[in-house]
Amino acid sequence: MLAPMAEVTDAPFRQICKEYGAGLTFTQMISAKGIIENSFQSLQSLAFNRSEKPIAVQLLANDPDYLKKAIYEIKQLKPDLIDLNCGCSVQQVCKYGLGASLLDDPVLLGKLVKTMVDAAGDIPVSIKIRLGRDKQNITVLRNAKIIEDNGASAVIVHGRTRSQAYIEPSDWSWIKKVKDEVKIPVIGNGSIFEPEDAIRMFDQTNCDFVFISRGALGNPFIFKRINSFFDEGTEGKAPDIDEVGSAAIRHLKMIIKDSGEPNGVIKARKHLIWYFRFYNGIRSFTEKIFSIDNSAQVELFILDHIQKIKYGFYPEEDLQKVRKSFNERILFWINDKKPVTTE
Ligand SMILES: Cc1cc2nc3c(=O)[nH]c(=O)nc-3n(C[C@H](O)[C@H](O)[C@H](O)COP(=O)(O)O)c2cc1C
Repeated sequence: MLAPMAEVTDAPFRQICKEYGAGLTFTQMISAKGIIENSFQSLQSLAFNRSEKPIAVQLLANDPDYLKKAIYEIKQLKPDLIDLNCGCSVQQVCKYGLGASLLDDPVLLGKLVKTMVDAAGDIPVSIKIRLGRDKQNITVLRNAKIIEDNGASAVIVHGRTRSQAYIEPSDWSWIKKVKDEVKIPVIGNGSIFEPEDAIRMFDQTNCDFVFISRGALGNPFIFKRINSFFDEGTEGKAPDIDEVGSAAIRHLKMIIKDSGEPNGVIKARKHLIWYFRFYNGIRSFTEKIFSIDNSAQVELFILDHIQKIKYGFYPEEDLQKVRKSFNERILFWINDKKPVTTE
């Protein structure tokens, strides 16, 4: 499954992940209040194409009344799952008592889940949680039970606490403990970058599904490769540079179709950089792409970059370091700020 990511899991990215085998994709978190108030940004994030189904809509809310009203609106769009974000640790979200701050309020959490389940009717509800506030306050087992007892159909467990940054790996042992604690499906999340990570998570935690976030950035192929392990018994091969390039160009075209020029080009930049982060030349690619603002030229630039990669034009880079830095500092890539991974 493709995890929700703000400013990332828009329709083009969801579509390309689905094409490569993601079983379910999520919208980014959307404010329930924004939906009720017809905020343009919220309604835009909510929109999805029927061909994207199955799709989950993720909400951000701490007020049962707003949540109920937002779900009545959303139901008309017939999503396949409605999720509540109880995992976002960003200060801008938590300071309003939203996201991961709900992990500390079991009574409100239970009430929100019950409200969602009642309002959603036959649409299943899931709740995405973290382990707790910090390592001294692990509440994941209690919260998972509350989520189950109030009727949710699934719980998504991100194996980090609210105070943990990405530098520490997701602690999957808690995902296993949640799996032992509840009967509803458990979706495991955190630190899946390669197909073998997903397979290990299934093995170690017995979770029902895996949730992929950063590992899918510029890498929708990961879904196909994981599926191939389960369908054929061997993990699918990593794509060659031509397949990477054609997926990047297709993704660019999908973004342009949705957002037009030049906005689409600006939106596409971070994705295109992500596609090429596994190859020498990423530093040069990153520097140059910010100076191109029309999609035809971006496409030519990509084709040229692929040829240069193929013929070993670029000097060797420490790609392990690039990968590590990307994993730890991903959020700096958002809003088209210059990526820090190549610094
Ligand atoms: C750019 C970015 C945006 C994110 N936005 C959301 C969001 O809107 N809702 C949410 O529940 N989690 C969000 N997350 C958290 C991810 O869904 C996921 O739980 C987290 O990255 C751990 O998974 P990973 O280790 O596979 O990256 C975001 C993560 C990233 C990197």
